[in-house]
Amino acid sequence: MNSIGVGLIGTGFMGKCHALAWANVQAVFGDTPVVRRLALCEVDERLARQRAHEFGFETATADWRTIVADPAVDVVSITTPTDLHAPMAIAALEAGKHVWCEKPMAAALTDAERMAAAARASGKVAILGYNYIQSPAIRYIAERLTRGAIGPLAQFRVEMDEDFMADPEALFTWRCDASSGYGALNDFAVHPMSLIATLIGSPSEVFGEMVKPYADRPDGTARRSVETFDIATALLRMAGGASGTIQVSRSAWGRKGLIRLQIFGASGAIFFDQERFNEVGVYLADGPAADQGITTVLMGPAHPPYEQFIPAPGHQMGFNDLKIIEAHELLNRIAGHAALTIDFEAGLTIERTIHAIARSSREGRWISMK
Ligand SMILES: NC(=O)c1ccc[n+]([C@@H]2O[C@H](COP(=O)([O-])OP(=O)(O)OC[C@H]3O[C@@H](n4cnc5c(N)ncnc54)[C@H](O)[C@@H]3O)[C@@H](O)[C@H]2O)c1
Repeated sequence: MNSIGVGLIGTGFMGKCHALAWANVQAVFGDTPVVRRLALCEVDERLARQRAHEFGFETATADWRTIVADPAVDVVSITTPTDLHAPMAIAALEAGKHVWCEKPMAAALTDAERMAAAARASGKVAILGYNYIQSPAIRYIAERLTRGAIGPLAQFRVEMDEDFMADPEALFTWRCDASSGYGALNDFAVHPMSLIATLIGSPSEVFGEMVKPYADRPDGTARRSVETFDIATALLRMAGGASGTIQVSRSAWGRKGLIRLQIFGASGAIFFDQERFNEVGVYLADGPAADQGITTVLMGPAHPPYEQFIPAPGHQMGFNDLKIIEAHELLNRIAGHAALTIDFEAGLTIERTIHAIARSSREGRWISMK
């Protein structure tokens, strides 16, 4: 395949990230087909035309079905609110397109199951926007764990906190509506789950708790009842014997993009925080006690694929670079090469886990994942 035609649906926060990734993946990696940014969709024609101009797409539409029906489009980026993922992804797969869909898959588990079934039936590549697994730091941690650097794992803790909904007066958005799912579980906990799936494995049992800090929020001139839970906590018992916790909040003042990972093994520990994602902390319990301490490893060209972006160590990568790596992994998968992705099948396992956590919160008991 010498070139690949891209369609983009949605141009908000994630839509721009996908657009930047499609614009840059060829220049960064140099081994991709020519990426043709063909068609872009937004809710109204004017905005669609404006974004197509800004993002460098050839055509604009307010009807996403036009993109799905376009024979020149090979892959569709879906970056719309969560309740639209299932109809868009399924239609794209049925039309023979590859799909890059933002997380989570869908609010309803049945919709996520239908998405996975459509991907299976299509034979096309369908991956989810689990960008945090793509960083050089997470690849480095995976490699250290695989080499047994900290021994058999005993426990891990993952926290994900942001504060964009910490203000009780923050406006009601689609994220407060039950059509987007449970709340912080779908919005945030799926990211820690993607890291756990990549680095550690699958839970065999889960216990959960969901909290709604504010009952209503301003919506126009009135106040509207909040239907989702901005805070969630889960205990995980892993199939491999380790245990872990996930704590997530969209209402954690002061936290802007925290994803803090702590992994404790029999002979050491690994520490990571997405707010400082160019650094990994490693503690090895060997040598004289007086010399032991957490070593900070700064990401650089020795930590792939950092070197594709910048030849110099210590110059730092940023969030949008993770999306460029994700686009590259998608293209690798489409080309039939090995790739680090969370596809719809693996994504369905994550969806099942968050639904089990929500069920545990309702029923107040451990839920088995078997
Ligand atoms: N991977 C990540 O790190 C990450 C981060 C944030 C959001 N997300 C996910 O991305 C998705 C979008 O979130 P966002 O923060 O970008 O939202 P957003 O509100 O910023 O953007 C959504 C865009 O979709 C457009 N849209 C809505 N309906 C449409 C339709 N029918 N046709 C075309 N466009 C339509 C909206 O006008 C808006 O521009 C969500 O599923 C969210 O969970 C992922």
